[in-house]
Amino acid sequence: MAYLSTDRVAHHFYDVVIIGAGGAGMRCALQLANEGHRVAVLSKVLPTRSHTGAAQGGINAALGNVVSDHWLWHMYDTVKGSDYLGDQDAIEYMCRAAPLVVKELEHLGVPFTRQEDGRIYQRAFGGQMREFGEGGIAKRSCAVADRTGHAILHTLYQQNLRAKTKIYEEFFALDLITDADGCHGVTAWDIAQGAYHLFQAKAIVLATGGAGRIFQTTTNAHINTGDGGALALNAGYQLEDMEFFQFHPTGIADVGPLITEGVRGEGGYLLNSEGERFMERYAPTAKDLASRDVVSRAIALEIRAGRGCGPNKDYALLKLDHLGEELILSKLPNIHQLALRFGGVDCTKESIPVQPTAHYTMGGIPANRFGEVVSTDHDDAETVVPGLFAIGEASCTSVHGANRLGCNSLLEIIVFGRACGNRVMRRLNAHRYHVTLPPDCWQPGVERVERWLGGDDSATDTPSANAPSVATLREQMQKTMQHHFSVYRTAESMAEGVANIETLYAQLADVRISDHNRLFNTALIEAMELENLMQLARSTAASAAARTESRGAHAHEDHPERDDINWLKHTLAGLDDDKIALDYKPVRMQPMTVESFPPKKRVY
Ligand code: FUM
Repeated sequence: MAYLSTDRVAHHFYDVVIIGAGGAGMRCALQLANEGHRVAVLSKVLPTRSHTGAAQGGINAALGNVVSDHWLWHMYDTVKGSDYLGDQDAIEYMCRAAPLVVKELEHLGVPFTRQEDGRIYQRAFGGQMREFGEGGIAKRSCAVADRTGHAILHTLYQQNLRAKTKIYEEFFALDLITDADGCHGVTAWDIAQGAYHLFQAKAIVLATGGAGRIFQTTTNAHINTGDGGALALNAGYQLEDMEFFQFHPTGIADVGPLITEGVRGEGGYLLNSEGERFMERYAPTAKDLASRDVVSRAIALEIRAGRGCGPNKDYALLKLDHLGEELILSKLPNIHQLALRFGGVDCTKESIPVQPTAHYTMGGIPANRFGEVVSTDHDDAETVVPGLFAIGEASCTSVHGANRLGCNSLLEIIVFGRACGNRVMRRLNAHRYHVTLPPDCWQPGVERVERWLGGDDSATDTPSANAPSVATLREQMQKTMQHHFSVYRTAESMAEGVANIETLYAQLADVRISDHNRLFNTALIEAMELENLMQLARSTAASAAARTESRGAHAHEDHPERDDINWLKHTLAGLDDDKIALDYKPVRMQPMTVESFPPKKRVY
């Protein structure tokens, strides 16, 4: 293919290139830029539009500002919440680091809500208990009202501007430059200018967020299309534990926007059509503050039993008007707005209709607690991929295992963004020079774009008569995932779902776009996002269909019990001749310094 010569691809050299400008990428960038390293951040949107901005309820840390707390209790809750699939070394690292990183955020300028004594305000969240579950509800979530992610994202953005991090806004990552020695760079498309760029670096960090848009109803922004996961998969690496997709219990019914668990942390509760506080039956101790998988399943069962609310009996009600207007407007102002705008409900007076909604990708690119991407062979030997790092929701550091606790996601991005920055510095000390890349290394990235714009000989200028459009195919994929891989799953339905997703994936090759303009071509971006989504959906579907047990968010109706004998292991999904190939690796049960928490029955 000869439509471009090398001089048409701008070649940049950096110490580090970070793909994604959410909290994880920005925290990592800050760590490095503050030490004087040359850091570039590539973001397909304006950085402050990153999805970290949508995180509401808070960031967990055992500060003990309201009731006594300890990082070990936080660790226990996280291991238990993960349904024992979480890697305990990474969980210990995260929970121990939490108080430190929250105080760092405070010093960077995050305007935390305050208690009367001036210390950071902390609220209760699901699955948080004291004294290893014996001491009642903990209050561990450090909050900026219900706009915590927004505040953290903006603070980190401003700090990065101060630290002179170079931010490439509206750049779409196309292809990782890899060889047997690891990862050396990435090709990218400048969306506004319609131009190609090759970014070469000694370390590449994938911090692209989650893939909630594989589902039809989601709390996720349109930008959450699993771009980093697809880059890694296409480069020959695996994705871990993709079957575990978190459904948040309280998305606004039918439309999806998040109503924070912080509502229940402040004293709100769920009701069925009979006006019953049904969570008391499912989780007698924690009630509405049980972990998310438990609450989502309870809502699904109430709906299935005919006790759903509304004309279609398909949602529950979240009651919070008893908290009073003053508390709602001061501690929960964002969800007050969201409920009005998207649900048509004034929650100071009425309950909010809510449904479980696709929220968080617990699987992702396998990474250790330093943010290094790891690959695992058939004998379970794990090796670090030199030069490639993954952090935040794009990664699977496996601190969430099969079910994430609320407010551990903001914690994860900060803890591992920082840890990754430190580990990258170690690599920079050992690798002082850029490698020499093959002269045509940018070709696969360029071909990816030209296939859509018609520069590729195989493309036609007009959409083929029978081929679906990008929008139609995306909708079919999202409906398939929603129908076959929702809160409850069966073997038959998942098998059908896998087959349907593979059929849709095959159709992608025939899809064309009619807008071939190079400048700010959003049709092109949506097409490439669909390519990414498809790979993530395929990995999720295949991983889920293979796991014959119920654990955390994977509720398999034909195998309703957890099976620690056969399934206390991580799934790995890779590509083999463009087919999804599955493998497994053990869970890391050994923490760094404390005793392991062995699996036991999980009750709330
Ligand atoms: O409910 C929430 O505020 C969501 C928090 C989270 O996903 O961590």
